[in-house]
Amino acid sequence: MKYSTILLAAGKGSRTNLDYNKVFYHLDTERTVLDTSLSLFLKDPDCTQIIIVCAPYELDEVQSLYSQYPQVEFAQGGETRQASVYNGLKKVCENHVFIHDAARPFLKPYLIEQLKKTLETENACLLMIPSTDTVKIVEAGYVIKTLTRDQVYRAQTPQCFKTELIRKCHEKAVTAKKTATDDAQLVEWYGKTPIRIVYGDEENTKITLPSDLSNS
Ligand code: CTP
Ligand code: MG
Repeated sequence: MKYSTILLAAGKGSRTNLDYNKVFYHLDTERTVLDTSLSLFLKDPDCTQIIIVCAPYELDEVQSLYSQYPQVEFAQGGETRQASVYNGLKKVCENHVFIHDAARPFLKPYLIEQLKKTLETENACLLMIPSTDTVKIVEAGYVIKTLTRDQVYRAQTPQCFKTELIRKCHEKAVTAKKTATDDAQLVEWYGKTPIRIVYGDEENTKITLPSDLSNS
């Protein structure tokens, strides 16, 4: 199944405490976080288009790094992750789209294969990990309730959709001025379609905190 990928790199990475965007952090002497996440999709012949979404002030730098790849295109990021995805979606040309955080460079290729297979029969799917912690709802420092642990999952990316579905959901969110914490939530709100889970992998972490850099 052919698909486009939106690779999100337009954040600031402020929680890593680096003095630059974490996607440019070197995982080894050769490759940065962004190089590594990009290479996963460059290697997949089914991925015919990769849209790297980057901050306007980093666009020139990112373009000069990757413009040699014919399937790579560039879009400007927005103030929020959701706005960045929306800008990327405008350029998507395949009927199916993967949305992936560039800050998750440890994604394994077999998971891309499982997501593609799932998207053959579903309108929406994403990687999820069952929670091993008990999760409680808290307000103003007091516990309100405990969620049933075997129903609690943590969402990862890629999150994958029929392009028209996720585009319409993003447009509805723009009209309603609503911000979700991930793309699947927009489908929950506006999509009227089931969202299938694919079991993710604990190693597919999002580089977020300084400890994620020292462990990488
Ligand atoms: N992202 C984006 N556009 C934004 C914000 C985030 O494209 N306006 C991207 C980031 O580059 C990252 C992914 O979305 O790959 C997940 O976001 P997050 O981990 O929150 O990254 P940052 O926003 O960069 O980090 P922080 O919140 O610590 O500043
Ligand atoms: Mg952020």
